[in-house]
Amino acid sequence: MYDRIIMPQHLIVTELERKRDLARLGGGAQRIKRQHERGKLTARERLEVLLDNDSFEEFDMFVEHRCGHFGMNKHQIPGDGVVTGHGTINGRLVFVYSQDFTVHGGSLSESNARKICKVLDMAMQVGAPVIGINDSGGARIQEGVDSLAGYGEIFQRNVTASGVVPQISLIMGPCAGGAVYSPALTDFTLMAEGTSYMFVTGPDVVKTVTHEIVTQEDLGGAKVHASRTGVADLAFANDIEVLLQTRRLYNFLPLSNKSGVPVRPTADPADRVEMSLNTLIPENPNKPYDMMELLVRVVDEGDFFEIQPEYARNIIIGFGRLEGYPVGFVANQPMELAGCLDINASRKAARFVRFCDAFSIPLVTFVDVPGFLPGTDQEHNGIIKHGAKLIHAYAEATVPKLTVTTRKAYGGAYIVMNSKHLCGDVNYAWPSAEIAVMGPEGAVEIVFRGSLEKEGEREKRVDEYRQKFASPFVAASRGYIDDVIRPQNTRWRLCRSLALLRTKKVETPWKKHDNLPL
Ligand code: HXC
Repeated sequence: MYDRIIMPQHLIVTELERKRDLARLGGGAQRIKRQHERGKLTARERLEVLLDNDSFEEFDMFVEHRCGHFGMNKHQIPGDGVVTGHGTINGRLVFVYSQDFTVHGGSLSESNARKICKVLDMAMQVGAPVIGINDSGGARIQEGVDSLAGYGEIFQRNVTASGVVPQISLIMGPCAGGAVYSPALTDFTLMAEGTSYMFVTGPDVVKTVTHEIVTQEDLGGAKVHASRTGVADLAFANDIEVLLQTRRLYNFLPLSNKSGVPVRPTADPADRVEMSLNTLIPENPNKPYDMMELLVRVVDEGDFFEIQPEYARNIIIGFGRLEGYPVGFVANQPMELAGCLDINASRKAARFVRFCDAFSIPLVTFVDVPGFLPGTDQEHNGIIKHGAKLIHAYAEATVPKLTVTTRKAYGGAYIVMNSKHLCGDVNYAWPSAEIAVMGPEGAVEIVFRGSLEKEGEREKRVDEYRQKFASPFVAASRGYIDDVIRPQNTRWRLCRSLALLRTKKVETPWKKHDNLPL
């Protein structure tokens, strides 16, 4: 029998504090200084900005890696390069992980992957969102396949959690190689400008394989992903801005697919009449106007949180509130490509509609769409398949779905934009709405081909077509439009309809899952 050697309690406490201090110091003062010099916060500082004061509770502070190769056993830092746990944002629970670039470059080891997986698992069980802060050199090279396995385990959980709890990725440093796929699987990705980048293969590999010379920033910086690829939803000037805007976004999101939406009291009256909307639409039907004005004037207190503002600007998506309830808005933007639907706009809106539907956030769609963007570029890149995504998204969505057609709603695009035919619940039109197969000019060219040469004939026919079809009344006479409303009344009509639909229930046939046109 051995005598158990018991460490006196005061020594354990001392050891505890020593280990905590060590973990808090991450890779040490020098590396923290380097992080700051680059304009980046440390993993812990980021959590301080993101979470409510004193709300963070850390898990696994003492986890260490198990790698013995390349002298790694001499390089143990408690926590092993990722800070994980939970806290609150404006009092609402959130699970978090924050990669610590000062510890082995924030690289993903078997052990720190386990920490991330623990947080993801608990978030799903409890029913709360996960925010992951990415700042990492990728797979821990010394660990080989154990590290790759860690990524796989994370991806699997990202997919399982999709549609169960909201997942947000913040990119605040390197995120390269297969590591990019975790953010890509989550619901929203926000990037810091100048300090973050995402690519599958970096500039060196690109140069070797394709002989292209490109910087990290031009290959996968925040601006590229927020405006050209759509991989990032938002880009902000620095870490602090990203973190504060994430708090704002968080306020609109439910905790889970079962929790119901976060309702907030508002001083903005539901029956507010907005006279300025009566003059929003220009007399000339070909003149653009800013759809953002309508959104801002309709939502509670003018607070609209736009998603992907720099990508596919011909469609606007974002969150606002009506009577305190979060709503997802989709709106054509006549200021860009005349508000046409194209590949990028269809994908952008479709993913947003699906997010809202998954988390029971009602949808309001503002329509002013002259059709799909014509051209070989669009056709050869698959507008048929991509446009179908938006139809699919609207048609399968069972949340309350409202539509207001402000001006043009032509052809296929009329159907796509949450028409009655895709089960729009309440579809309004302004008196300026034109719901037709196409615009009067195009229609006359086809219907009266060969008989328009006579002086004044074209104008006469265009006028005739406009009188007949370029109004909301034909659609209203069929019941495809529930009511023609005055622009000034838009807010209160929407509020009233949403209140009506709060108990909406739809039965859908059993299926394993649908087959989205990917
Ligand atoms: C282990 C790493 C590391 C990694 C960086 N470090 N990346 N340690 N595994 N993947 C360490 C460095 O050794 C260094 O340690 C510290 O982190 C900081 O790195 P620096 O190179 O000094 O920083 P910087 O100059 O800013 O360059 C950052 C970097 C570069 C661009 C990320 O470190 C880099 O290229 N790293 C390797 C990237 C990579 O190839 N990863 C594997 C990708 S493949 P010290 O002790 O000196 O501070 C992959 C597959 C995933 O991820 C597959 C998933 C399906």
